[in-house]
Amino acid sequence: MGVTALKVAIGSDHGGYVLKEELKELLLSMGHEVVDKGCTSPESVDYPDYAKEVASLVAGGGCDRGILICGTGIGMSIAANRFRGIRAALCHELFTARMSREHNDANILCLGARVIGPGLAKEMVKVWMETPFEGGRHHRRICMIDD
Ligand code: RB5
Repeated sequence: MGVTALKVAIGSDHGGYVLKEELKELLLSMGHEVVDKGCTSPESVDYPDYAKEVASLVAGGGCDRGILICGTGIGMSIAANRFRGIRAALCHELFTARMSREHNDANILCLGARVIGPGLAKEMVKVWMETPFEGGRHHRRICMIDD
């Protein structure tokens, strides 16, 4: 059985630009649709602009998932989680990338391009894209967040 093709919004600041370009290729090779909200070069920009673009698309249903990359992933996760319905998970390794899907139904993955290398980032994106939400008691808990 093949993996469901999803529409993924992706965004970064200058610190995540190079990794964003690599992850776009990976997502396309996995059969997903990619909506690139920038940035478009390694020139210095402000991460909240890109977090807002991606988070609003995902929160509004225009995209199924989002991926946000900055130097640490911290600024992106703080900004994205201000949006109702967004569950942005800042992950630096495979276990939390998987658990953020299984238990938290994370709809945005935040990565720090100055924290992890591209090889690990790609493995994390594969796991994060392919891991389903477990539902059940975890569904009750995520519903409590937006109460
Ligand atoms: C930019 O220098 C850096 O602050 C940004 O990429 C990010 O790490 C913020 O959280």
